[in-house]
Amino acid sequence: MLKGFVTFEGIDGSGKSTVSRLVAESLGKRGEKVFLTGEPTHSWLGDAIRRAYHDDVGPLAESFLFLADRAAHLEEIRAHLARGELVLCDRYADSTYAYQAARLEGVVEEPMAFLKGVSEPWLLPPDLTILLRISAEAGLARIADRPNRVRFEDLSLLTKVAANYDVLAKSKRYIVVDAAKAKAAVVVDVIAAMEKRLAFAHRHR
Ligand code: TYD
Repeated sequence: MLKGFVTFEGIDGSGKSTVSRLVAESLGKRGEKVFLTGEPTHSWLGDAIRRAYHDDVGPLAESFLFLADRAAHLEEIRAHLARGELVLCDRYADSTYAYQAARLEGVVEEPMAFLKGVSEPWLLPPDLTILLRISAEAGLARIADRPNRVRFEDLSLLTKVAANYDVLAKSKRYIVVDAAKAKAAVVVDVIAAMEKRLAFAHRHR
């Protein structure tokens, strides 16, 4: 049985939500105990974030909303991990490092280091992070006809976010998947990576 904490990351339009759902379904069918979750959550803290998409509170307050939502969400994630489940999370701390580091440019010095500094003391690091990599142009083209667009979805911001993800993905915790491929092929790649990495993590625990 697979167990551990796996996060899915990528810019808007990278297909993480679909891929994480398909991965969860496929693993669930073969009997794995999977808990699929995501951020922003569906709690009132997540609702506050969604409200802030439209009612701009500024990049600093917005950053702390994401952190507050994550801090509360972590209790739930830890409870599922404690039961030996496989937790799949559609966006997590790297979303804050990628998006809010771009949003905080010029607001604080070294935004990514700042965000890591306020997160790492309490954060649970994922065992594996999947980056669904796609260019900002291609990501935006995929979401062009979505009805409820959020403020972050513009080319200059997403270009910076994509560059931040490329920096983050240098960590060994990451695997990078080409999100421009067909979804079924992406799902196969992701499950193969999980089998390799999570099994490896087990042997050393
Ligand atoms: P998204 O994954 O698109 O959620 P949903 O499909 O439920 O709307 O995330 C919403 C937006 O929030 C997206 O543009 C990325 C952004 N975001 C951040 O800027 N920082 C974060 O920490 C998270 C979790 C998301």
